[in-house]
Amino acid sequence: MKIDKQSLIGIIGTGTMGTGIAQVAATAGHKVLVYDKSSEALLNARHSLVKIMNRLVEKEKLSQGEADTILNRIEYVDGLSRFEGCSLVIEAVIESLDVKKQIFHQLESVTNSNTVLASNTSSLSIASISGALKDKSRIIGLHFFNPAPLMKLVEIVPALSTRPEITQACKDMLISWNKVTVTAKDTPGFIVNRVARPFYSESIKMLEEGIADAVTIDYALKEVGGFRMGPFELMDLIGNDVNYTVTETVWTQMFYDPKYKPSITQKRLKEAGLFGKKTGKGFHNYGENADATEPIKDRVLLNEITNRVVTMLINEAADALFYNIASSDDIDLAMTKGVNYPKGLLKWANEIGLDKTLRHLEDLQNYYGDDRYRPSIILKEYVKKERNFK
Ligand SMILES: NC(=O)c1ccc[n+]([C@@H]2O[C@H](COP(=O)([O-])OP(=O)(O)OC[C@H]3O[C@@H](n4cnc5c(N)ncnc54)[C@H](O)[C@@H]3O)[C@@H](O)[C@H]2O)c1
Repeated sequence: MKIDKQSLIGIIGTGTMGTGIAQVAATAGHKVLVYDKSSEALLNARHSLVKIMNRLVEKEKLSQGEADTILNRIEYVDGLSRFEGCSLVIEAVIESLDVKKQIFHQLESVTNSNTVLASNTSSLSIASISGALKDKSRIIGLHFFNPAPLMKLVEIVPALSTRPEITQACKDMLISWNKVTVTAKDTPGFIVNRVARPFYSESIKMLEEGIADAVTIDYALKEVGGFRMGPFELMDLIGNDVNYTVTETVWTQMFYDPKYKPSITQKRLKEAGLFGKKTGKGFHNYGENADATEPIKDRVLLNEITNRVVTMLINEAADALFYNIASSDDIDLAMTKGVNYPKGLLKWANEIGLDKTLRHLEDLQNYYGDDRYRPSIILKEYVKKERNFK
């Protein structure tokens, strides 16, 4: 099985993600059909793609001819029946299991039996969506990151039932689209949204405990940790509504494991509509009332903040490896390419020392008596065997 430039690609849902994925597929040379149940969303997608192409021409990234060719490859259609000849359909509609299942059920009847049916879901299991299909062997998760044309990473998530040649064909196709792929087990949060949880939650916990303010924690993780954005800046950018929901979803789907427990602080921001940048206020203030607070530049404090967050991130990456969510290479690649971490976490663990990381976790666990700090078994095993991550 092969999905090449001659293959027709279908995209369902022309919100943020669907529009971005359509741009990526058309730029890679495919003819693309896009559909949204809202004609307004379809029109918005058309306008935004023209605008983006014009900008790329202005910046001399594309010639006018190339931009026109890309735009001409995209056809806006008014129903799923037009997807009959597609080799691959990528669904990117709202994050609702009922809506997605309805779409996949319909797709099964309008497409031919070789069409690969993919979902861009961030938090639903591919297995749960596959429940809508009679033939569950042609479904797969293709999790793009926002903005899809700029973010290199795509998590490929085969369901239990997915035929291996479909996984391989999607991987080959995405590489030809200039993407970096990792393969993840169909588990909550896949790789990135699972492993990244402590970046947010441990930072909020330190804020709640009064260890430091948000400005100082942001500063520590940027200056000492080398992260591009601080956790509070990033939560405000993602939106506290979206970020809280991802945390809560991972936590509930992991059967309320305390490691993923959401925070009351962020829940209150969500409830109050203080989503962050898009509403002018979240953890920080924006616009005219933008924060002018200076961070506390105490080296000991900054190191303590950074070490605690990085230790928790490493523990999560180690656990993802322990539970075979992905290979160690893919776990490190996912975090550097999907969320721009300065280093792969397992590589980082080797540099810090696995014994030191384990001791730090045990100290936190003893002090707080909280299971959220329980060290990954693989970390314990490797320390005992005096070995590093690969
Ligand atoms: N936004 C992100 O950062 C991000 C990142 C990765 C994955 N995702 C996932 O991608 C998917 C889409 O997210 P988004 O942010 O682009 O959403 P969005 O709200 O921007 O767009 C969703 C679109 O789906 C359309 N839609 C709803 N029901 C439909 C139906 N029955 N048929 C056809 N179209 C329908 C809506 O009209 C809307 O245009 C979700 O599953 C989300 O979890 C989002």
